[in-house]
Amino acid sequence: MLKRRPIIIDTDPGIDDAVAIAAAVFCESLDVKLISTVSGNVSINHTTKNAQKLIEFFGKDIPVAQGASKPLIKQLEDASHIHGETGMAGYEFPEPTKELHEKNSIEAMRDVILNSEEKITIVPIGPLTNIALLLKTYPEVKENIEEIVLMGGSSGRGNHTPAAEFNIYADPEAAKIVFAQGVKIVVCPLDVTSIATLDLETINKLRDMNKVGEMFYSLFNHYRGGSVSKGGLKMHDLTTIAYLDKPELFEKVETFVDVETTPGYTEGFMIVDFRGVYKKEANATFCTEINVEEFRKWMLNIFENIKF
Ligand code: RIB
Ligand code: CA
Repeated sequence: MLKRRPIIIDTDPGIDDAVAIAAAVFCESLDVKLISTVSGNVSINHTTKNAQKLIEFFGKDIPVAQGASKPLIKQLEDASHIHGETGMAGYEFPEPTKELHEKNSIEAMRDVILNSEEKITIVPIGPLTNIALLLKTYPEVKENIEEIVLMGGSSGRGNHTPAAEFNIYADPEAAKIVFAQGVKIVVCPLDVTSIATLDLETINKLRDMNKVGEMFYSLFNHYRGGSVSKGGLKMHDLTTIAYLDKPELFEKVETFVDVETTPGYTEGFMIVDFRGVYKKEANATFCTEINVEEFRKWMLNIFENIKF
């Protein structure tokens, strides 16, 4: 019997979040214990409703808990220009019928982690607000966290500003806190997520597979994260699930990472000290390359095995 890794996904769906959530809940090597929502791509009401709709659409009995409605310090700057007004434009999902988790997601994550016999992997694929709050409020959870595998940052240019990737830019103070907690962190940055794309051939195969593929085909018509005619649609968040299920798709290095929080042009810039200029201990495993063809095959394999 395959041993399944217990994970918590912290997310701001978001169309690429939705693909990552689908892959995680149907992946045989993963056991999704909780979905925690955060404001980011769109407001917390939309990200939470979207998470509930997705989990029910996938027919999964996984609790959804609502988290932070805004960043720790700055005002929320969303990415609705990429994902549409609701965050999941393009498909009419049935209204969710199941209740939200009765606790906020910080408490819900603490309960799952402290009550788990196995160490929990946390998969943040939105701004890091909830994760910073969890680790600062309940530091005792650290000893039962296997690792944090997050989508965010870049060793080069950003995608939301010239200097910063969206998830880090949205709450740079939270990101700075998370990287300073001494918890094992794997970073899936724009270096790999911007080339982890779905080309037209892959998207058409997905469309013809099943109800889930058909749904994503509709969402992709409204997704502005890349372009089918120019390199493909960027599956930023899906790379975290690929890393967990098939780490051999990636090249990675151990390095020191920190985040610039000073307001201005470099706000949210991720310092990735490959050459050890600052003589600081490595605090992250930083993914530097991905095998895109194998990533696409991996994704199709997970989705074609979905049985409804
Ligand atoms: O920069 C990409 C990240 O920002 C992804 O998590 C995407 O969903 C958006 O939140
Ligand atoms: Ca996201």
